[in-house]
Amino acid sequence: MANLLNRHKVIERNVTLLAVLAFLTVAIGGIVEIAPLFWIDSTVTKVEGVRPYTPLELAGRDIYIREGCYGCHSQMIRPFRDETERYGHYSLAAESMYDHPFQWGSKRTGPDLARVGGRYSDGWHVQHLKDPRAVVPESIMPPYAFLADRDLDVSHIGDHLVALRRVGVPYTNEEIAKAAEDVTTQATGEGDTAGLLKRYPKAVARDFDGKPGQVTEMDALVAYLQGLGTQVDFKSAAPREQAR
Ligand code: HEC
Repeated sequence: MANLLNRHKVIERNVTLLAVLAFLTVAIGGIVEIAPLFWIDSTVTKVEGVRPYTPLELAGRDIYIREGCYGCHSQMIRPFRDETERYGHYSLAAESMYDHPFQWGSKRTGPDLARVGGRYSDGWHVQHLKDPRAVVPESIMPPYAFLADRDLDVSHIGDHLVALRRVGVPYTNEEIAKAAEDVTTQATGEGDTAGLLKRYPKAVARDFDGKPGQVTEMDALVAYLQGLGTQVDFKSAAPREQAR
């Protein structure tokens, strides 16, 4: 034992040797943690029902990002009782696997929006986005009425899907070719809705903003909000919770 301590003294008294050995130790630890990630395809467990966004939802998501909604709203329900009772099932990693970038966040000036889809009517959302205080008098959310007057620009929506495919979102050639058409179909409820549903199961096609025939930024944002948290069927996924 004394012998070993004596040898350790050599390291302690030689700064260069100490630095080299410390570096080696940390490097080994680092490699052990990082190297496996090069050989596994994904760290996210796939969950049934999770699909890429429809082109209209994607356009809405871009508006969500552009307007800075993230600055006041998180989209991640943590696995704590107070959160799950208020917002619903805690968020799964798979639910944001096609988000580039994800919108988890930690700033909650307003409520978490991860499961806001289907909680309110389209009319409520439109009214709330136009003038939040008209429906929630104590709200401090800013109004976004201009969204209803701006036509949605879909000239680059196909390119957007191509770009997402490069980073791993599995859009097919057909989905890319039909992107602009799918936007109109979903925002009006008219056209090839069957094709849209085949490409994007459970997608809801209807006139979201109450302006038939016109596809506005409001249509896109409300379609995005109404889809949030609705892809995974938690009733069939969590039988144990249901039984209690
Ligand atoms: C300055 C902070 C702020 C910003 C920015 C903001 N919100 Fe809000 N939001 C709030 C607050 C506070 C509430 C709660 C009161 C209310 O319902 O208006 C809220 C409520 C909501 C709700 C209702 C949620 C629920 O469960 O009742 C939705 C949906 C929503 N915001 C969407 C958005 C969208 C979309 C944007 C971006 C276009 C946005 N918010 C930007 C603060 C903000």
